[in-house]
Amino acid sequence: MLDLVGRWRTIIEPFRIHSVEPIRLTTVEQRDVALEAAGYNLFNLHADDVLIDLLTDSGTGAMSRDQWAAVQHGDESYAGSPSWYAFLDAVTELFPFRHVIPTHQGRAAEKILFSVLGGAGKAVANNTHFDTTRANVEATGAEAVDLVIEEGRDPSAIHPFKGNMDVDALDRFLDERRGSVPVVFVTVTNNSGGGQPVSLANLRAVREVCDQHRVPLFLDACRFAENAWFIKLREPGQGDRAIPDIVRDMAGLADGMTMSAKKDGLANIGGWLALNDDDLAEQCRNLLILTEGFPTYGGLAGRDLEAIAQGLREVVEEDYLRYRITSTAYLGEALDRADVPLVKPFGGHAIYLDARAMLPHVEPLAYPGQALAVALYREGGIRSSEIGTVMFGRRPDGTEAPAAMDLVRLAIPRRTYTQSHIDYVIEVVRWVAERASSLRGLRIVEQPAALRHFTARFAPLDRGPAGA
Ligand code: F0G
Repeated sequence: MLDLVGRWRTIIEPFRIHSVEPIRLTTVEQRDVALEAAGYNLFNLHADDVLIDLLTDSGTGAMSRDQWAAVQHGDESYAGSPSWYAFLDAVTELFPFRHVIPTHQGRAAEKILFSVLGGAGKAVANNTHFDTTRANVEATGAEAVDLVIEEGRDPSAIHPFKGNMDVDALDRFLDERRGSVPVVFVTVTNNSGGGQPVSLANLRAVREVCDQHRVPLFLDACRFAENAWFIKLREPGQGDRAIPDIVRDMAGLADGMTMSAKKDGLANIGGWLALNDDDLAEQCRNLLILTEGFPTYGGLAGRDLEAIAQGLREVVEEDYLRYRITSTAYLGEALDRADVPLVKPFGGHAIYLDARAMLPHVEPLAYPGQALAVALYREGGIRSSEIGTVMFGRRPDGTEAPAAMDLVRLAIPRRTYTQSHIDYVIEVVRWVAERASSLRGLRIVEQPAALRHFTARFAPLDRGPAGA
């Protein structure tokens, strides 16, 4: 064991490959055609035209042999299925909340919770809202406010827990907005801020401030296991603790959680809302029945519930988490050695390229992140996602402003790509970075009112595709 961890530098994927999926090689010419047809929005591509898909780590991971075996145990009873009890046991083993409400994915849990808690005049604080979380808060007329620590807004600032909430700012916010804040959220890890972890000490401090103001604290716990691994590695006094114990500590500091099982549930679909408040749980269950289904399946098949239950056992295994975090850092370290500007320290599920620093000649409202993402696809067939002004630049009143950062996220699906895939990604990113000064910005030619990054269509500002 020590040998593997301390002596050899090569990252060993702690699994063998059990079934394979082909990926299709394409040419730059084919990808130019695909880009134009997609309106330069990588969400619009046919996934067969993608070589390495780093669009998201959500629902794109490989399930284990034991998860596929669990799928065979799926019981599709409408109510009270044994699969529901397997799911409930696995969830409450790590997150001992009184009520667990299954949903088809994370945003369904958000939609239900904020439908009850939100509304005009209300405000929700988060270290950084993920896009669907923000959209679900704003859809109720409430305001979504981000209060991450200052280091969390600076791509190159080094801090072990860059996802931490600014506790003083939260205290002031809860003072100013007294009576209008129904819930405070902490997102672990902080996805929109670079996949950065939150410390137990910070959660404790947030809890204290919430208690003083009598406001409940919820976790957006999508990447809870990665967050717990960072706590074990970086937080004083946590190094010898078991991951499930750290997770239970995180849960014990909160009154509830929303979860996407598509991340650290190691499943391809699923999520839940969990909480302690009986009245709130009842209101949420009533809404669940309207849109998701009966409270013992909530939009999921019995087989999905089984896959999640098994996934929750596997995701807290140390061999898995060590590999997961080390292999993500492997990509970051190689790009850092090549002087590609990155968010540092490296996050758990993704490496974030600092497109604003790489393309200083493209102003934020010409979407440097989108230009870079388009170039990575064009040159190497790599699909990434913009996390910047396209995603966050449009305000609810329809005006536009630069986002805090213009990043491109290379999200790593769990247990899916090998080190040689990642070596290829490194080669392509380096090639594009060396030619970044030739990339052009884009303009939006079509966009919806909310969550525009999913469906907007773009045109290159200059002739030809960005980069041509
Ligand atoms: N919260 C966070 C922090 C997320 O990263 C996501 C999804 C959600 C909530 C919503 O969960 O997709 O199951 O409805 N993030 C994905 C991503 C989509 O690519 O980062 P969902």
